[in-house]
Amino acid sequence: MNVRPIRVDDLTGMQACNLQNLPENYTMRYYLYHAMSWPSLSYVAEDHKGRIVGYILAKMCAEVAEGEEPHGHVTSISVLRSYRRLGLAKKLMIQSQQAMCAIYNASYVSLHVRKSNRAALGLYRDTLGFTVKDIEKKYYADGEDAYAMHLPLK
Ligand code: ACO
Repeated sequence: MNVRPIRVDDLTGMQACNLQNLPENYTMRYYLYHAMSWPSLSYVAEDHKGRIVGYILAKMCAEVAEGEEPHGHVTSISVLRSYRRLGLAKKLMIQSQQAMCAIYNASYVSLHVRKSNRAALGLYRDTLGFTVKDIEKKYYADGEDAYAMHLPLK
C-alpha cells in the first residue's frame, strides 16, 4: 500500500471512499478547494492497482486571531473497511501533520470527532497523542456531540 499526496484526478475516488465510510459528505467543489489551496496537506492510500483505499483531507485554518499562530485542521479521514488496522490512517495523519508544520509553520492541528467513534478516538488519542479541548454539543446533523481535539506540532 502506497501513501502519496493527492492529485486532482484522485478527487472522485476520495469522494467515493468518503461516501462509503462516513455520513459527513462534501461537494466536489469542497474537495477541489482543499486540493487547490493546500495541495501538500491531503494524501491518499492506494492499493497495488492504484485504487484509492483511504484518504486524508486537510487544510490550514484561515481565521487566525491577531498574535495567534496558524494551525492545521483535518476535515476528514477514512480507510475502506477491508484495509483497516494496517496502519494506513496513522500514516496519512503523520504525513499531513509533517507538511502542516514544515510548509505552513502550523503550531497545532485540530479536528472534530463523534463521541461514539471508538476507532477514530483510538487513533487520535491513544496512537497520535491528541487531547480533547472542548465538547461541541449537537455538532453533527443527527444531534451527536463532537470532541474538538488538538495536537501540538511544535
Ligand atoms: N478500535 C480501537 N482502536 C482503533 C481501531 C478500532 N477499531 N482502529 C484503529 N484504532 C487505533 C489503534 O490504536 C491503532 O493502532 P494499533 O492497530 O497498533 O492498535 C491506531 O488507531 C492506528 O490504526 P490504523 O490502522 O492506522 O487505522 P485505520 O487505517 O484502520 O483507520 C479509521 C482508522 C480512519 C478511524 C477507520 O476506522 C475508518 O475509516 N473509520 C470510518 C471513518 C471514520 O470514522 N473516520 C474518522 C472520522 S473523524 C474525522 O474525519 C476528522
